[in-house]
Amino acid sequence: MSTSARLEQIIERVGDLPAMPKAVSRALTLTDDPDVDLSEVADAIQTDPALSAKILRISNSPYYGMRQYVGTLKLALVVLGVREIRNIVLGVAVFDALHTRKTESMLAGDFWKHSFEVAAFSKKFGEHLKLTVHGEDFVTGLLHDIGKLVLMRQFEAEYATLYAEAGGWGETLCAAEDEAFGFTHADAAAALATYWNFPRTLVDGLLLHHPKGAVPLRDAIDPVLAAIVRLANGAAREGSRRGEPARPAPAGDPEAWDIISGQIPELDEPARAGLLARFADAIASMPAPRL
Ligand SMILES: [Fe+2]
Ligand SMILES: [Fe+2]
Repeated sequence: MSTSARLEQIIERVGDLPAMPKAVSRALTLTDDPDVDLSEVADAIQTDPALSAKILRISNSPYYGMRQYVGTLKLALVVLGVREIRNIVLGVAVFDALHTRKTESMLAGDFWKHSFEVAAFSKKFGEHLKLTVHGEDFVTGLLHDIGKLVLMRQFEAEYATLYAEAGGWGETLCAAEDEAFGFTHADAAAALATYWNFPRTLVDGLLLHHPKGAVPLRDAIDPVLAAIVRLANGAAREGSRRGEPARPAPAGDPEAWDIISGQIPELDEPARAGLLARFADAIASMPAPRL
């Protein structure tokens, strides 16, 4: 079965996925036009005041390193660019749409912090290595685990138990999800992104963020983007366990490194682990903005 047919099946199985908010679809349509008027984009986003406030909070987070406070959406569009703001809008809108009573406790934990760390890691890491990606690195990192919110929203009690038993992370969780539902949170994330008509590069990044999936990384529309998000997820997860006894830095998934080595052949294994550890530390020390 093709990936898109499988995602269609999951969309059906999950049932009532949230609809894309109006302000978001309007902003997306507008930003498709390369000559768009920035005031028009700002106005479209501002019809949703909560969304606007969140976008400003993220734009002003230390991660973006603004020299001065960006107080309006128009200015944020000028400073960060239409494309970056468009991606932040996408990311925040998904979190908003999935924020319900059922997902409250998950979001109150370190879910947002982890998501933000993987987003920041993906962007900085790609920039550092001068990797060519299509610009969706931040938003793909931010949304990589949203399938967990989708599953919680839909199968609340069953998923909460499964999630707690599997420890909430990694391949053990994926295996438990697959056994219970026939698909994983990575599949569910890709299904929602497909349902919202997100770019295929982003859909693939979400789908492939865990190693040992059914589809090889090299089959992604943008394998480098998918590889970066997979490495970021592995490393940021380790970073978030600081405070526990020191453990060796993760070497990162070999399949992901294989893709990246195509662009930077000179990085050997110790250099790779050192690089991941350095990024994980730097990102973990950066406070995530409030959602
Ligand atoms: Fe995940
Ligand atoms: Fe994750």
